[in-house]
Amino acid sequence: MIRLGVNIDHVATVRQARRAAEPDPVAAAVLATLGGADGITVHLREDRRHIQDRDVFRLRETVTTRLNLEMAAYDEIVAIALKVKPDEATLVPEKRQELTTEGGLDVASNVASVSAAVDALKAAGIHVSLFIDPELAQVEAAHRLKADAIEFQTASYSEAKGAAVARELEKLRTATAQAVAFGLHVHMGHGLNYWNVQPIVRVAGVEELNIGHSIVSRAVLVGMERAVREMKQVMTEHYPNPRKG
Ligand code: PXP
Repeated sequence: MIRLGVNIDHVATVRQARRAAEPDPVAAAVLATLGGADGITVHLREDRRHIQDRDVFRLRETVTTRLNLEMAAYDEIVAIALKVKPDEATLVPEKRQELTTEGGLDVASNVASVSAAVDALKAAGIHVSLFIDPELAQVEAAHRLKADAIEFQTASYSEAKGAAVARELEKLRTATAQAVAFGLHVHMGHGLNYWNVQPIVRVAGVEELNIGHSIVSRAVLVGMERAVREMKQVMTEHYPNPRKG
């Protein structure tokens, strides 16, 4: 059974739109857990555009499943992670101007900065995952740095059209087999939704998906608990695709 990590960043996006106290991501995490989430994921960005430091500390006290902190390998954020001690830290690239994380971390070309963060987090007993493109060079670099897991970015798959969809899936299948052969745990995420998730669930070796925007979007309309329950259903059984009729 593949785990579902629910990324609740965009609950905080709504709150920050008014710099208000609600909606509280901590409440969203409780409801996501009731809906069947296997973990809660948040990204503490350097610009604090959605999740705030307070959220991460409160989530650490309240999340009863697994807390996954997405973060850039910046000293300030690493220091916070070492205090919070999430179950897992997922290192991602971060650019101030981007709307969301764009592409995977280029571990192969940034060995020094990434390895310092990996070593510090691992020494504190935190599982480390690296968000990378599904490419052998990145998988090999993640293995060399002794990461526990990798998360393949599925943005290219999610944005692909026509014949490119099958090509992107094949890249994910090949890279997953390579990562598993290196003993890495394989997670995937970015751009996954209720209509494109099923082929991803069928990739042999994948253990966890991290999904945010599509679940929070549905939660605004039907409630967090139901939105998560429906995603878990789609991940486990055939679900009619309304776009195909
Ligand atoms: N995984 C990682 C590493 C991410 O950076 C994000 C976006 O914050 C996600 C998963 C979730 O992506 P989405 O919001 O498109 O489902």
